[in-house]
Amino acid sequence: MPPLASPVSFDRTSGLAVLRTPNSVYAVRVGADGSPRHLHWGAVLDTDALGGLPAATSPAASSFEADPAPDELASQTGARFGPAGLQLRFADGTRGAQWHFTGHTVRDGELRLRLADRRYPLAAELCYRVRPDSDVIERWVELTHTGADDSGPITVDRLDSASWTVPPLPDYRLSHLVGGWNSEFQLRRDRLPVAETVLTSRCGLTSHQANPWLALDDGTATEEGGEVWSTALAWSGSWRIAVHRDPVGRTTWTGGFGHEGISWTLQPGQSLHSPVFSGLYTPGGFGAASRAWHTHIRTSVLPAPDRDRPVLYNSWEATGFDVDQPGQTHLAQLAARLGAELFVLDDGWFGSRTSDRAGLGDWTPRPKAFPDGLRPLADEVHRLGMAFGLWVEPEMVNRDSDLYRAHPDWVIHAPTRDATELRNQLMLNFARPDVEAWAHRTLDQLVRDHGADWLKWDANRVVTEAGWAGHPDPDRLWIDHTRAVYRIMDRLRADHPGLRIEACAGGGGRADLGILARTDQAWTSDNTDPVDRIGIQHGFSQLFPAQTMAAWVTDSPNIATGRTTPLRFRFHVAMAGALGLGGDLTTWSEEDLDEAAALVAVYKEIRSLIQHGRQHRLNGLGGVTAVHYASEDGAEHAILAWRPATRFGHAPPGLALPALDPTARYLDVDEGIAHSGAVLTRQGIDLRLPAGDYASRLIRLRRTI
Ligand code: GLA
Repeated sequence: MPPLASPVSFDRTSGLAVLRTPNSVYAVRVGADGSPRHLHWGAVLDTDALGGLPAATSPAASSFEADPAPDELASQTGARFGPAGLQLRFADGTRGAQWHFTGHTVRDGELRLRLADRRYPLAAELCYRVRPDSDVIERWVELTHTGADDSGPITVDRLDSASWTVPPLPDYRLSHLVGGWNSEFQLRRDRLPVAETVLTSRCGLTSHQANPWLALDDGTATEEGGEVWSTALAWSGSWRIAVHRDPVGRTTWTGGFGHEGISWTLQPGQSLHSPVFSGLYTPGGFGAASRAWHTHIRTSVLPAPDRDRPVLYNSWEATGFDVDQPGQTHLAQLAARLGAELFVLDDGWFGSRTSDRAGLGDWTPRPKAFPDGLRPLADEVHRLGMAFGLWVEPEMVNRDSDLYRAHPDWVIHAPTRDATELRNQLMLNFARPDVEAWAHRTLDQLVRDHGADWLKWDANRVVTEAGWAGHPDPDRLWIDHTRAVYRIMDRLRADHPGLRIEACAGGGGRADLGILARTDQAWTSDNTDPVDRIGIQHGFSQLFPAQTMAAWVTDSPNIATGRTTPLRFRFHVAMAGALGLGGDLTTWSEEDLDEAAALVAVYKEIRSLIQHGRQHRLNGLGGVTAVHYASEDGAEHAILAWRPATRFGHAPPGLALPALDPTARYLDVDEGIAHSGAVLTRQGIDLRLPAGDYASRLIRLRRTI
């Protein structure tokens, strides 16, 4: 039996692989048939308990039942009838892989199980990685055609990153995120049916409708307690996760890039590597699960996690496409007065872009709007003490553009089909090396020419009629396009170390662990209504930390919902993330501008708590919800509480703060009131909310003993 202390171990005699994290154990056994079979994922088990786990392969109860030993990556052979994570065809038409185990590697927290097909030239490595002080297990698969030049291609119809299995539970509940444009990240908790439940994006982006994150529990977990198993896929194109609750009571899910029906051809010598699909077991409820993800994203995903996200101003809701140098300069001056640290010039600055009908693809300043180019605006923004950011949508093109006129063949399109236009635009095929090279060159030049410190990288349509004329393996664009986006972002960051990138796809259509590995934050939603945002932000926070959640204060009535809300409420909601300003400041009263400047200043005081602290979601009584941010050492606390609608005019009961230390004492630094931790954790704090709808409060507490 392997030594307990080692985070990763493999015992040759028993075929048992064990990954140990601070609060979980993951165990796999390579079965007699050569297939790695799942043994355990969950509570920490000692050596004896692991040794006593049932054999990897047990016979099925009858000739009509599936093999009961769950796979780490299910192939299409044997008595396997659930969703297959590996689907392939060899040149002679044979489907599926039959493995024999060829070895393993354990190094630096990484385990690789090496497999080869018994008959065909195919090898796979199932890869696992654990990191110090984290319960997240990262998994991926590397598949290789090992045949001689004349051995014919292998068609890969599906290569999932991992299959995850939870221990048998009395019931299963699925938490996941659903939505649409303007309504992203709505958290749902649904009882899992005895069936296959598919979460997927078929649109070439992560999508607004679903996010590749899910959590499983037995239906009793709460924010504060209970076992939760959750997974997140690091991929920003189409994806698919199939959750299978079988009639016997076992639940497994398999997931990876690409949706059903697309294939990839492996020629001899070629490999296909899946993206990382991470899993996390947490014994402490949904809140602890989210905090563990937040920590993982900070320590192992984000490129610059320690840098404070700047308070930005973005001109989109203020000016739409109607941008020009005097107007933007005026906005920049007002933004600087409010304390903004970054000014982002949004859509409309380039080509013939005066509406969404033209100009995409022509990334040179629009002469009528910026007769001397962007440099004068960039210089003025820098002179005002702010960084300068630019909106770009490099993957897209309008037919009415010089780029499309010069290169109509650059778009993703099956030539014998209609080319559906969405928002009057088509999508460029970044899988083509010439298009990738053009995009990189263009963006690199833009950043250089304009001294841009920030790019808001948008994508305002999805893939339709996917095709690649003349290419023998056109489906690969679904994966290669996304990989090219990643490569360009990585190169830009490497060549311009100060450059920051904000991910965006018509709001929150591309937020995932893949894009966050090369961006600093994601635009959460085009819906900036603070009431709707409370729900959107609640869903977003299940996986993503507040520092990645771009949140703007915009005008009232809100442009999307028509709802009128006080400035303070809008601020208190947006302050829960990376604060931005997005209103037409030229219409704000002097009073509003002063109040906004004061609230921006307060945000800067609590910014490090919000952006780098530990987040606790609170569900208060009397229609109140809140988010509590605590510093790592438990000394500093910021609580943002919101009550969108008053109920019967009653004041809400105290808001309990269970994350505080009941043995400590705290000072409300704004009110000068001392509190006992025992009272705050149980009876709660009196919010003293103003009467009426859209009431909110920021409470700052400091531990005194
Ligand atoms: C998308 C973005 C918006 C804005 C517009 C510009 O919808 O989400 O923030 O940049 O595009 O066209």
